[in-house]
Amino acid sequence: MKNYSIALLPGDGIGVDVVREGKKVLDTVSALHGGFTLNYEEYDWSCEYYAKHGKMMPDDGLERLRNFDSIYLGAVGYPGVPDHVSLWGLLLPIRRQFEQYINLRPVKLLKGIQSPLAGKTPEDLDLIVIRENVEGEYSNIGGRMYEGTDMDMAIQNSVFTKKGVERVLRYAFDLSQAKGKKKHVTAATKSNGINHTMPFWDEYVHKINKEYPDVTSSIVHIDALAAFFVSKPETFDVVVASNLFGDILTDLGAAIVGGLGIAPSANINPEKRYPSMFEPVHGSAPDIAGKGIANPIAAIWCTSMMLEQLGEQDSAEAIMTAIEDVLQEKEILTPDLGGKSTTEEVGDYICKKLKNSL
Ligand code: NAI
Ligand code: MG
Repeated sequence: MKNYSIALLPGDGIGVDVVREGKKVLDTVSALHGGFTLNYEEYDWSCEYYAKHGKMMPDDGLERLRNFDSIYLGAVGYPGVPDHVSLWGLLLPIRRQFEQYINLRPVKLLKGIQSPLAGKTPEDLDLIVIRENVEGEYSNIGGRMYEGTDMDMAIQNSVFTKKGVERVLRYAFDLSQAKGKKKHVTAATKSNGINHTMPFWDEYVHKINKEYPDVTSSIVHIDALAAFFVSKPETFDVVVASNLFGDILTDLGAAIVGGLGIAPSANINPEKRYPSMFEPVHGSAPDIAGKGIANPIAAIWCTSMMLEQLGEQDSAEAIMTAIEDVLQEKEILTPDLGGKSTTEEVGDYICKKLKNSL
């Protein structure tokens, strides 16, 4: 019997509510499947932890996480702690130390969800964005000078390395070759305005593409690409982007397939030297925290991505089928999807569907 160890980091706000439901779903599928077990360790690292200890996690936090198979995270960030503190104190160190250089975000219209784009069906909206996750525009290289004077200034450098760019592009071409419907990779760029890093990126797109003769590629400026996500999303399949461009594109992606309540993401260390981390795209949503109405589907979809990465394909698919069943029925949904149900009711209902299906 296989056993997987999972670190739970519910974090702040609705992170706590949605991770609770995700864990329920994981327990349900593992019990029904019978071929694997899951062991959890839960950590209370969060902004609340920061208020007590002056840091987001203990000094040996990363050491403690290192040997898990996966990390399942809710969300971090809460009013009172600046966002850059919570991000740089917990999320970014995990992504960077554990070389989770791939951020995978499916932009897939599930059955039962109405896209805000008129007339678009699940066949039209089914693409995946691969966001570079550890370098690019989100570097901490730079500084502030002359604060408080007329010469007040700030500089932030972007970092694009051969290693970092090649590996994210290879991941995209590999994915397209193995699973792509169109065998086509679209790379986001802005080499007209950003004239050092982006031409560098484009050059490597051409170079890496040569290793994949059966896959084609195109390089599209990020501003146009954002517009095309709205006007002709059906033309895309695998989209690869730098850290900042991927971040923006995937929030847009989430919006066209039903919103943050159902948008999942995975931070992957493809070599499996370190644990990968699975987290909904949404944040801690202070406006609805504690009300019991957060949509748990984004977090539950993450459990499917986690099981897929662990090699439990059947269970991963069963979770997606259960989610789509619930969405199509439209009986038990949270308010963001027009329903009246609670977070817990949706989680329970998805578990019930799983029990009926397996
Ligand atoms: P947010 O994603 O928390 O909320 C944006 C809006 O979407 C809110 O109106 C919220 O109610 C709604 N929403 C989000 N998730 C939902 C769900 N599951 N069900 C129903 N409605 C949902 O983004 P916001 O407000 O910009 O950030 C709040 C805090 O979360 C900040 O401290 C921010 O830094 C943090 N954050 C953390 C992230 C992470 O942990 N990866 C990602 C994004 C934000
Ligand atoms: Mg974002």
